[in-house]
Amino acid sequence: MRRLIVGNWKMNKTVAATQAFVAAFLRELDTLPPDVDIAIAPPFTALEAAGRALRGSRVALSAQNVASEPNGAFTGEIAANMLTELGVTSVILGHSERRRYFGETDQGVNKKARAALAAGLTPIVCVGESSQRRDAGDADAFVGAQTRAALDGIAPGDLSKVVLAYEPLWAIGTGKNCEPAQADATMAAIRASVDGLAHVRILYGGSVTPANVASYSDQPNVGGGLIGGASLDPVAFAELIRAAHPGNRA
Ligand code: PGA
Repeated sequence: MRRLIVGNWKMNKTVAATQAFVAAFLRELDTLPPDVDIAIAPPFTALEAAGRALRGSRVALSAQNVASEPNGAFTGEIAANMLTELGVTSVILGHSERRRYFGETDQGVNKKARAALAAGLTPIVCVGESSQRRDAGDADAFVGAQTRAALDGIAPGDLSKVVLAYEPLWAIGTGKNCEPAQADATMAAIRASVDGLAHVRILYGGSVTPANVASYSDQPNVGGGLIGGASLDPVAFAELIRAAHPGNRA
């Protein structure tokens, strides 16, 4: 399975900073393994500039959110066809920051995943447990339930187009690492939670760096990474992509 590495910029970078990133990152591309898929997810305001600068390159463009409705009176929302028009091909959904700070629910994530698929966008659906659930031994059941809810009613033919991302909440932006074998076991539980996920890519995310990425990408259920902080610098992001790839390790 080809790995996918997605840089989730969160609420970082203006248009000018995005242009500077892309110019520097494109200079790194020749040094990156050919058999890995790469995407960056800038904020909405920088998508057009990023799309323009990336045109013709192998780097795909992702958004960080999308509306569940196709158009209409939804002040502040961005519809899926507004994203595809800019060359966006995937969208991060249900990130724990959106669930925590913006009230996203499993049902809402499900509606957004359907809207994304209907517009030809790949949903990158995030799931993950709190440290309390992990400590209570509840993690696998919890993320399994999140996965089932997010994918509820999606046709089997569409399930194969979905990407999942497992991000333990306590590992995001904290520098605390989930033990790779433990991450893999939970990702196996995610894969088993819905029929039809055997070949779906599951990304790992949460304080992944160039120094630790190999320990995750070596795990059997890991199909790539969702990278926050370490994706903001073009040289470090390129280094991480090289380090994730077995053929490019010393
Ligand atoms: P982090 O973020 O790599 O900064 O921990 C990952 C994410 O939230 O997607």
